Amino acid sequence: MVKSAFFRAGHAFLLLLFGGFGLGACSNGGDAAAPIPSLSTEERLAAPADPARGQVLFSECAVCHEAQKGARHRLGPTLWGVYGQPAAQLADFRYSGALRRSGVVWTDEALDTYLKSPQSLVPGWRMSYPGMENPADRRDLIAFLATLDE
Ligand code: HEC
Repeated sequence: MVKSAFFRAGHAFLLLLFGGFGLGACSNGGDAAAPIPSLSTEERLAAPADPARGQVLFSECAVCHEAQKGARHRLGPTLWGVYGQPAAQLADFRYSGALRRSGVVWTDEALDTYLKSPQSLVPGWRMSYPGMENPADRRDLIAFLATLDE
């Protein structure tokens, strides 16, 4: 009896462990988890930007970027407070020379251009991300980035 209860608890723990790992490793943009997956791109663009949906989409970035205040840098710098700021401002992250010299300011337009096609904005910078195709996805993700501030 005791043994089987222990077994069940262990099993639940393993499920949690693998469930959590699966979520963390998944980087498909959260299609299944997105709150309003049934709307077309046009319908989503006609509606107001949705930062909560953007947070789900941030799973594509979270492999390399933290979003919390005071978080450690990963392969890329933490993105807390980056919205609206000039590029390459954090003293404790080693940016590429290309990004430091870029003169880019992270406005909605710059983020949209860059998220669509990272290499088009700053040729030679170090961020290897293929780009986010869907304009409504980019808009919602940028709305989420805009919330990462005081
Ligand atoms: C494969 C790792 C990787 C992924 C995935 C990635 N990034 Fe990056 N990102 C980087 C690196 C590395 C840099 C620094 C580039 C440099 O110094 O040239 C960077 C830089 C940035 C910057 C500039 C930061 C600053 O301080 O100027 C922004 C903004 C950014 N990334 C946003 C995103 C977003 C949004 C996503 C998801 C759509 C994303 N990144 C996905 C690695 C990544």
